[in-house]
Amino acid sequence: MYYPDELIEEVRMKSDIVDVISGYVKIQKKGSNHFGLCPFHNEKSPSFSVSQSKQMYYCFGCGAGGNVFTFIMEYENYSFQEAVKFLADRAGVNLPEAEYNEETRKREGRRARLLEVNKEAAKYFFYQLRGESGKGGLAYLSGRELSRETIRKFGLGFSNVSSDDLTRYLKSKGYEDKLIIEAGLASFDEKYGMHDKFWNRVMFPIQDINHRVIGFGGRVMGEAKPKYLNSPETMIFDKSRNLYGLNFARTSRADNIILCEGYMDVIAMHQAGFSQAAASLGTAFTSGQASLLKRYTQEVILAYDSDGAGVAAALRAIGILKEAGLTGKVLSLEPYKDPDEFIKNKGQEAFQERIAKAENSFFFELRMLERDFDLNDPESKTRFHREIARKLCGFGEEVERENYIEAVAQKYHIGFDNLRKLVLSCAARNGAASPAAKPKSGIRKKKDPEENKKKPQKLLLTWLVEEPYIYQKIKKYISPRDFTEDLYKKIAEKLFADLESGTVSPAAIISLFADEEQQREAASVFNTKLAPLSNRTEQEKAIHDIVVSVKRNSFEYFSSQPAADVLALNQVIEGKKALEELSKTHISLD
Ligand code: CTP
Ligand code: MN
Repeated sequence: MYYPDELIEEVRMKSDIVDVISGYVKIQKKGSNHFGLCPFHNEKSPSFSVSQSKQMYYCFGCGAGGNVFTFIMEYENYSFQEAVKFLADRAGVNLPEAEYNEETRKREGRRARLLEVNKEAAKYFFYQLRGESGKGGLAYLSGRELSRETIRKFGLGFSNVSSDDLTRYLKSKGYEDKLIIEAGLASFDEKYGMHDKFWNRVMFPIQDINHRVIGFGGRVMGEAKPKYLNSPETMIFDKSRNLYGLNFARTSRADNIILCEGYMDVIAMHQAGFSQAAASLGTAFTSGQASLLKRYTQEVILAYDSDGAGVAAALRAIGILKEAGLTGKVLSLEPYKDPDEFIKNKGQEAFQERIAKAENSFFFELRMLERDFDLNDPESKTRFHREIARKLCGFGEEVERENYIEAVAQKYHIGFDNLRKLVLSCAARNGAASPAAKPKSGIRKKKDPEENKKKPQKLLLTWLVEEPYIYQKIKKYISPRDFTEDLYKKIAEKLFADLESGTVSPAAIISLFADEEQQREAASVFNTKLAPLSNRTEQEKAIHDIVVSVKRNSFEYFSSQPAADVLALNQVIEGKKALEELSKTHISLD
């Protein structure tokens, strides 16, 4: 591991989980745990629990869970090392220069190097824009009415006409070709060698929520194509999980976030004082971006282009917002194309008015739907009403559905009772109103033979955590080596050692893993509720069966290993003996 284990443990112990999470999520004490609304999925009643004694959090709705490091990793989008650093700073623990080991150095090092090379490139573009060769770029941006202050705030830059100056600069700073290519800043060509991806464009550095440059968008200054050129996805640049401008928008004091399509729109809105604006990255809005937004706001105002493509994109975005449990509204920019043009022509106050008048997304959908029907024709009108009823069926919550029926009836001059009947008959046909979307579980549930091998291993660990005294009863049959899943083996090694010495610390065990998915899986070991078993006999039978299946799986696993492996051979012989013994043995829990 990158930092010494003891130091990681020190940081963890000085970062009380209730204290840290309270800074992000409203949680309340209930019994021995704290509860609140899960920040990682949409829910109306709290299933997100934080345990002070275990120093862990767990969501019973979506399966998110872990220790204080996991939380910071998930919430801030940090790697494990970054989370350790973040909490160390918060707790006032001094971290030494990182200690490298091969595997983590490779992964962490790669990420860090990509961030560095992007930052260096952003700096280079930034200076070019202010230099002799960047004059055209600066003139272009001024022509688009961006102030010097705005250009600085967004770190805008310029890529020169020359086709390899960035690469040469980066190489002079010690970055190797391979990294520059991996970052998407240049490519290699048999004929021409290394050449820059971006040239003769104004550059928009794309930052993550922590202001780190993860990619670029570059715009031509005239009419050439493509208008915008974007960095490809890399290890640090996931277009479906980042939004342009969110690094600023997330701390805006507005009670909504304005979502638009373009870099220039975001910048124009910020310049006009709407610092809650953000945009997707040249790709369609995704559910990953919706859950990112959900951390910061409850209401999203769509300010998409007013053309056909913009409307289609808005309709898709509305569905995604709804699924994430966000309130959606749609802002009209008519008669202008996009927020940038609107503000340029009508100014800040007029834009503020449009925000205030933003349309409820359901009514927007109906209005768009209406265009497909001829309301002067009774036949077509009826079909339109049926379609409305079908959409109204989508509201899972009765109060909400009734409120919408009332509002729609009024707006479209349909009798309330008639519309209600139509909704009911539609619901009856489709088996009642469609239920609210279930939260997506973070853990992918697989129904395959692999899962059947893993399950008993996990259950046994859970039993040992919940009922540590069982350890004394089973330790003669089971050792950490019997856990054939790497993750469980690692947990078992530490847990068995802890049980031997009598001090189990679940949160410390989670720190053994640097990977968020693994931490989450480890956390679920400590938070799985065992099925209530009414009596001792049932319990003893359950434990017996679990121990047998863990042992059998281990036996089968080692039997299939090459015979030359002495360790495996021993394990097989011992496994066979233990299995025979177990089949005749009753494990008593008294
Ligand atoms: N986009 C892209 N590639 C293109 C065109 C557009 O990636 N060839 C993305 C960019 O992120 C852009 C957004 O789609 O910001 C919106 O595109 P568009 O509406 O065409 O551009 P505007 O934002 O209006 O750009 P400008 O005002 O600079 O013309
Ligand atoms: Mn535009």
